[in-house]
Amino acid sequence: MNPLRCDQTPAWAELQAEFSASGRHFDLRQAFANDPDRFGSFSQQAPHVFADLSKNLIDAGSQALLVALARQCGLEAQRDAMFAGERINRTENRAAMHFLLRNPPPAQYIPAQAAINKMADAQADVEATLQAMLAYAEQIRADAAITDIVNIGIGGSDLGPQMAVLALAEFAAAGQRVHFVSNIDGDELAGVLKHLKPANTLFLVASKTFTTTETMTNARSAKAWFDAQGVHDIARHFAALTTNVAAANAFGITTTFGFWDWVGGRYSLWSAIGLPLAIAIGAAGFREFLAGAHAMDEHFRTAPLEGNLPVRLGLLDVWYRNFHGFSSRSIAPYSSALRRWPAYLQQLEMESNGKRVDQHGQPLPYDTAPVLWGEPGTNGQHAYFQMLHQGTSVVPVEFVAVKKAAHALPGHHNKLLANVLAQAQALMNGQPDAGGHRDFPGNRPSTFLLLDQLSPASLGALIAQQEHRVFVSGAIWGINCFDQWGVELGKVLAKDIEARLATRDVQGLDGSTAGLLCKLAP
Ligand code: F6P
Repeated sequence: MNPLRCDQTPAWAELQAEFSASGRHFDLRQAFANDPDRFGSFSQQAPHVFADLSKNLIDAGSQALLVALARQCGLEAQRDAMFAGERINRTENRAAMHFLLRNPPPAQYIPAQAAINKMADAQADVEATLQAMLAYAEQIRADAAITDIVNIGIGGSDLGPQMAVLALAEFAAAGQRVHFVSNIDGDELAGVLKHLKPANTLFLVASKTFTTTETMTNARSAKAWFDAQGVHDIARHFAALTTNVAAANAFGITTTFGFWDWVGGRYSLWSAIGLPLAIAIGAAGFREFLAGAHAMDEHFRTAPLEGNLPVRLGLLDVWYRNFHGFSSRSIAPYSSALRRWPAYLQQLEMESNGKRVDQHGQPLPYDTAPVLWGEPGTNGQHAYFQMLHQGTSVVPVEFVAVKKAAHALPGHHNKLLANVLAQAQALMNGQPDAGGHRDFPGNRPSTFLLLDQLSPASLGALIAQQEHRVFVSGAIWGINCFDQWGVELGKVLAKDIEARLATRDVQGLDGSTAGLLCKLAP
């Protein structure tokens, strides 16, 4: 079945009519005054994640129309195709089966008949690789000589593991530090290396392709540094996490953990790319992390669309982007452990859905992914929240709060929670009668995600929820969430310019690039 393009569905036209008639004038304060149950109707407990959507510019009518839009765009069939292991990443002719990485053994998921053998084989491979990787993680944790683990990777081979290692620092064993080196700027690697001793260091070279320039440049420099200090046991001090084991071997790394082309880079934290996290929190912790994500997978796969949290969030994203015209979303984790959450979500959302053509390469006449940006609270409050409260653009905010603190310092957590509640309240209620500079218009929407505690399981569920939410809006927009051709052109041009920088050859370049090249060339 070829689903209808979203803007050609009857529901889209009805949403437009609804928006013109009432949606554009929707007032949250009025909505709460009219409906004492609004919090109950627009919030839900999903696995490990409670979500309050009630401070969003939706009512029962618009929500029902959005669900109708999802059905008319064939969301359920698209979701089922992903879980059946179909090659939904058409431009690369690949499946997108990251969910398979989190199925518990034995797999509870029953794939469609046509895919059953292939899925079962893949599942067996996943479990065998996971067992090997977790055994290795435990071996490293028990190795008192290894005090420092350096993950060398970028994009999905950096952002996910880095975010998760920081988020779960409370669960990490003492005595081992995990560092992340991603930038090709040698400052980063040099800054880490100057504190390390080769005999106490394990380098993890994390790259799905094992060709990414940044990662290969950093890995070569790390190996040269290691060799130069006279410790030659590469097998003990270097491991590669990659789908391209042959390239890792050719590079000289024999300790390898593989994964598969059906794991997208930004969806790879659950695979061997998660090794730094497994070393930090241990095998049992990593299994809990996978189990939390699996619980969210099952929720997304089976819950009716009306009560399906990733679906509700993804539909809200479409409502805001295509009807309200909001072009960004601010991410506000009120947890310093989640300080890399905004950066992680930027890749997930903007690399997945930052596309302007449909599945067949045809230009789309409507907007897709918003800009995601943010910082942890309360820091953001003292920087850009001014604009969120009183600026001319409306920016929906997505708060994340954690009920139980991981530390024992008295006073802090109550203040933190008071702040996140106050910000959401101020955005919505405003202060309308103060006049002039002190006037807060209010009616500014926010979503509130709440975890009981930041644990491996709740973090797994929170991340999987975001992955599926991105899939939902991408499915409505009719785009391929799983490719990223937009990153290729710059890579090719950088190779050309790198050669020109050495020779100052500006022939054929535009005037600005030529002028700057001459200024930058050594
Ligand atoms: O350049 C973008 C990208 O391909 C991302 O999609 C990916 O996560 C990142 O580069 C790193 O790629 P690799 O893991 O192959 O080094």
